[in-house]
Amino acid sequence: MNLIWQAGRIGPMELKNRTVRSATNEHLADRNGMLTQAWADTEIELARNEVGLVITGHFAVDPARRADEGQPAMLPDIDRETLRKAADGVHGYGGRIVMQLNDAGLKAPEAVNGQPPKGPDDFTVSELKELRDRYVAAAIIAKECGFDGVQVHCAHGYFLSSFLDPKFNHRTDEYGGSYDNRFRLAGEVISAVRDAVGKDMAVLVKMDSNSNPDFHHALEMFAASRIDAVEISGVDFGARKGEKSAFYLDALLEAGKGMEIPFILTGGIFSLGEAERVLEAGIPFVGFSRSLICEPGLIAAWKAGMQNEAKCLACNGCYQIYRSRYVRCVQHKTPMPQLEKVFGAK
Ligand SMILES: Cc1cc2nc3c(=O)[nH]c(=O)nc-3n(C[C@H](O)[C@H](O)[C@H](O)COP(=O)(O)O)c2cc1C
Repeated sequence: MNLIWQAGRIGPMELKNRTVRSATNEHLADRNGMLTQAWADTEIELARNEVGLVITGHFAVDPARRADEGQPAMLPDIDRETLRKAADGVHGYGGRIVMQLNDAGLKAPEAVNGQPPKGPDDFTVSELKELRDRYVAAAIIAKECGFDGVQVHCAHGYFLSSFLDPKFNHRTDEYGGSYDNRFRLAGEVISAVRDAVGKDMAVLVKMDSNSNPDFHHALEMFAASRIDAVEISGVDFGARKGEKSAFYLDALLEAGKGMEIPFILTGGIFSLGEAERVLEAGIPFVGFSRSLICEPGLIAAWKAGMQNEAKCLACNGCYQIYRSRYVRCVQHKTPMPQLEKVFGAK
């Protein structure tokens, strides 16, 4: 049997196989950040198609700093019924679901939020504590609504990732300077979330392989932080148009040598053969984003032995297309009925 179909475990989560839908902003909240049934349908569709672990697109822990309109926000009156429907629906197909939590930081546009974006240097210590509490409140809601875990987004230049990066963090207090100081906020968020949700809910992080010269030390800091798994990505994933091989694998194999924490590797995996190569190299889980935007049924097709290569061309058109909506993939024009349900027919 291929390694990909073997059962796996991340903390308290039993997973039916090694496939992970890496967090992918569905852009299926309404313009105010409220969840829609179409958002839940999209998560369930992936589980129905054999994805073992579905990680939701990022939720804005602070509704005042959304990455774009269409991103769901942790509003006080967030629609818990829809969250529960998504969790129950995914479980109904034997899948697991993790909610990704994020603050867009410097990538929260003024046009969406009515205020300029804020970065690591713009927060007082008490504002950092308030932000940490927002992650905790969001994680508790995820737990109450039946999610199996949360993922703290520390990648791609969003707030916690920019905090780790000396190009954006110029603080001179205990949250700036050395890597350990720049890590302090992420560590506090993870620790507070873990205390709040306990051991029976998974806590994951997504981190960059390349926003710090010492990837090994960064991995060690995350691995020591009471999390159940680390997903590896990179700040430059958007620039890797057309690359169809696991582009962070070598860096992870080098930096992660001897570490026991389960890794999920995401980025550039577009064929069953490439997924198996990653798994054979000793990485226990493989993550997919663009290929599943293009073909949500891809993993089921692999399981049925129907194809090897994803149709996705890694053209990156999907980064833009969600904003003009109605199709999910610019190359293949795959219709997305969920979008019409939310935003009306064209
Ligand atoms: C349209 C789109 C939305 C994305 N949204 C998120 C997100 O919400 N959170 C996140 O961590 N990564 C997000 N990503 C990045 C993917 O999770 C993934 O790390 C990246 O696309 C590389 O994986 P791939 O080669 O399988 O596409 C997004 C990517 C795309 C194309």
